Amino acid sequence: MKDLVFATSNKGKLVELQGLVGAGVHVRSLKDFPEIGEIPETADTFEGNSELKARAVATATGLWALADDSGLMVDALDGRPGVYSARYAPTDSERITKLLSELVNVPDAKRSARFVCSLCLCSPAGDVVFTRGTCEGRIGHVARGAHGFGYDPIFELPDGRTLAELTHDQKSGLSHRGQAFRLMVPELTRR
Ligand code: IMP
Repeated sequence: MKDLVFATSNKGKLVELQGLVGAGVHVRSLKDFPEIGEIPETADTFEGNSELKARAVATATGLWALADDSGLMVDALDGRPGVYSARYAPTDSERITKLLSELVNVPDAKRSARFVCSLCLCSPAGDVVFTRGTCEGRIGHVARGAHGFGYDPIFELPDGRTLAELTHDQKSGLSHRGQAFRLMVPELTRR
């Protein structure tokens, strides 16, 4: 595979993927195909949403397409916010405040959570392959750390650090997205 369209406009994700696949695969993004526009994430699973986006981009471009969908699943909230992680409240800080308030009476032992990332690769002919990465941890009581984005400041790893207290490279080495990317690399480079 020489050309791949990654269904994202997020520069950070694009750079991370290009770094993993190397110079043999030219990774483009939705910024190179502005006519495609926003693809609604209407499925109720991470796999469903990543497939929806990958299929839409492969159909529109006639090229191999890769798409991701990720989010946070909190056990005490029956897996919420899940696929609604980005839409849980209007801003990152409001999403964090909302989640912490829903867990205010939940003891430490019951605050387990995980980040999940589904990646879907779709061929020009419409064949799909999935990888999934997870990152296990728990929800803390206060936001800590200045790095990362989203729910990182309240997501504590088993060693007690939050994801927002890690450097970019440290996070990529153990994050759900980094793991899903690394599992997908052989699929991208052998075709
Ligand atoms: P996306 O599918 O990568 O756009 O992620 C959807 C939403 O899940 C984001 O807007 C964040 O709220 C949350 N999320 C996904 N990955 C992470 C992460 O690595 N750290 C913090 N929040 C994340």
